[in-house]
Amino acid sequence: MESPHALLELILDTVPQPVWVVDHAGELVFANPAAVAVLGYDDFAELKGKPSHQTVHHHRPDGSVYPAEQCPLLRPRMSGESVRCDDDWFFRRDGSMIPIAWRSAPLELPDGRGAVVAFVDTTERRAAEQALRERDAARIRAAESRATGRRIMESATAVRRQLARNLHDGAQQQLVSLLLELRLIREELGTDPARARRLLDEAAEHTQRAIDELRELASGIHPAALASRGLVSALKALAARSALPVLVTGAVEVELTEGLEACAYFFVAEALTNAVKHSHASHVVVTVTAREPQFTVEVHDDGVGGAAPGGSGSGLAGLADRVDALDGQFTIDSPVGGPTLLVAEFPL
Ligand SMILES: Nc1ncnc2c1ncn2[C@@H]1O[C@H](COP(=O)(O)OP(=O)(O)O)[C@@H](O)[C@H]1O
Ligand SMILES: [Mg+2]
Repeated sequence: MESPHALLELILDTVPQPVWVVDHAGELVFANPAAVAVLGYDDFAELKGKPSHQTVHHHRPDGSVYPAEQCPLLRPRMSGESVRCDDDWFFRRDGSMIPIAWRSAPLELPDGRGAVVAFVDTTERRAAEQALRERDAARIRAAESRATGRRIMESATAVRRQLARNLHDGAQQQLVSLLLELRLIREELGTDPARARRLLDEAAEHTQRAIDELRELASGIHPAALASRGLVSALKALAARSALPVLVTGAVEVELTEGLEACAYFFVAEALTNAVKHSHASHVVVTVTAREPQFTVEVHDDGVGGAAPGGSGSGLAGLADRVDALDGQFTIDSPVGGPTLLVAEFPL
């Protein structure tokens, strides 16, 4: 029959749980094979008699020295309490670090109180947790990008519908009546050349109107004014067409990309449309500032406030997407009662 002590060592030899014992001085007097293996040693003889803290716990993960007095792992020797930590680390023999969870309990030994420490390598558990976190983050990102994609599709559909409407109501209408006029002119040519000439003058005028209409329409797709006159002038032209008095101020001290200019232009266009449609404002102030490291566009109306994305409209949600697509920040400050301030900020 083995002694209880020898039996215990036999058991500890075979269990997969790493266990070690330190004496009253904090020196290793026992480590089972599982502990020896986790720490990267071949044999307990390499660890025997060594101070445990200075051997496996001497530095913090940030590289700073970890004084033994501060280490809770050794505390049970002194205080008699049991201590645990699920978020610690040990150094292996080759200097690599492993994440560790440990339990340390006081243990009465022949020459004073020591501690028994049971620990596990948490590398796999952490990897699994990290994988879960990444999976959740990926799911959230996928859901967000689906929602953005949907909004972009919806706004693209809305733009197409608007274009079709404008083409139908504007340019197509003009071209159809032009066709009728030309047919009439052909009939009149033989019988009443003077009338035919008058009709031709009118037809030329109507052609010009159709051209203007198409140009307007095209400038809604990519504002021609932007390319020819620059952002501030294009915004002033936009402001001049608004049903509200609009003041455009600001300074563009750096060259902006075409994408940023177009984004700013449509931002102001939608904000002005909203001010006219919803705000009951008396006037609007548009401010653009492009100075390293930031490009800021602000639209301020003195109206009733309460602007919020969502609901039936897609204008503000579209603006949020537009700004987001260029790494910008979009903020709406529009308390009920007013006023309303829309801001888009882009890093330069
Ligand atoms: N400048 C504003 N002042 C007051 N309310 C506003 C303003 N801009 C937007 N709103 C409110 O926010 C809602 C959402 O605006 P938006 O997304 O542009 O949709 P839409 O203009 O098509 O209604 C509007 O329906 C309106 O109630
Ligand atoms: Mg709107």
